[in-house]
Amino acid sequence: MAGRQLKEIFRAYHARDDLAFRRAALEIIEEEQAKHHNALARDLQKLLVAGGRPVDSGSTVVVPLPPKDREGEWDLGEVREPNRLFDDLVLHPNVATALEGIVDEVRKWPSLDAAGIPRRQKLLLQGPPGCGKTTAAEAVAGELGRPLLIVRLDAVVSSYLGETASNLRRILDYADQAPFVVLFDEFDALGRSRDDASEHGEMKRVVTAFLQMTDRYRGPSLLLAATNHPTLLDEALWRRFDEVLSFGLPSVHQIRRLIRLRLRSVSHTGMEIDRYASTLRGLPHAAAEKMVLDARRNALLRNSPVVEREDAEKALPLITSRPW
Ligand SMILES: Nc1ncnc2c1ncn2[C@@H]1O[C@H](COP(=O)(O)OP(=O)(O)OP(=O)(O)O)[C@@H](O)[C@H]1O
Ligand SMILES: [Mg+2]
Repeated sequence: MAGRQLKEIFRAYHARDDLAFRRAALEIIEEEQAKHHNALARDLQKLLVAGGRPVDSGSTVVVPLPPKDREGEWDLGEVREPNRLFDDLVLHPNVATALEGIVDEVRKWPSLDAAGIPRRQKLLLQGPPGCGKTTAAEAVAGELGRPLLIVRLDAVVSSYLGETASNLRRILDYADQAPFVVLFDEFDALGRSRDDASEHGEMKRVVTAFLQMTDRYRGPSLLLAATNHPTLLDEALWRRFDEVLSFGLPSVHQIRRLIRLRLRSVSHTGMEIDRYASTLRGLPHAAAEKMVLDARRNALLRNSPVVEREDAEKALPLITSRPW
């Protein structure tokens, strides 16, 4: 660990500057990764995300396991320790600022409550596939040091009349017991009955039921819904959310930043990042990330510790010719 980073950490402690602390800590983690000290890097990452709680022995808040459906067959949710932070994402500045604002606000809910100002507690993340909606939800949980409760909508949605609504009630009651970040991922699935995947009226009905159920939700959890289905917006259902964050395809500049970010702790030489970014124009963030992963895999398969131009060249056409 460089003396510079140590000094930065001490300075950040004295200034109570969380951001500077995190930045220095992340640099240290990346350095350890680069040295292939994988176990140490993973432990440090967990400590950073979980705010020093002993992650493996469970969170400090003891909550029962997530509920099951009426038959006791399916888990309606899954609790996960988040593994991401905002630094891991490349976002449009407006979305980044909005997310940071939400995290700050959740920390200040008690002051808002005391002042009688309504909390923003129910957010919709919308945008095309692979642009970071799910990852952003995880990063919000990571920044807040809260566990992520991922609602299993495939289990929540039931073909029995009224059962979808009672499953929703069960999971919301559960989210009342501790401060989670709750993610209703692929939220549009809520209206898809198991019998008929395309029934539009049903979608509106169940989503509306969800919105009514959560209208007066003042529990300790932050509720996030994510969708890449524009129909929700056509139906003006977005108005019932406290905030809508629109994730878009990355600009060439953002693709370049993402490639650099994913290459940060990787030894590489001869990479033409600007050209790769232009070639990936119009594709989601997930494509740029996969390009780097594929190039790293190619290097590893030729037993090279260094990722070289040929590894990226080989990866690119496969990325641009597949659907995203
Ligand atoms: N904005 C971003 N910044 C950095 N990495 C990203 C970003 N968006 C996506 N990725 C990477 O791409 C992968 C897929 O992203 P994610 O699952 O968050 O997309 P999504 O918007 O939820 O897509 P879908 O609509 O298909 O659920 C992740 O591994 C993530 O690391
Ligand atoms: Mg997703």
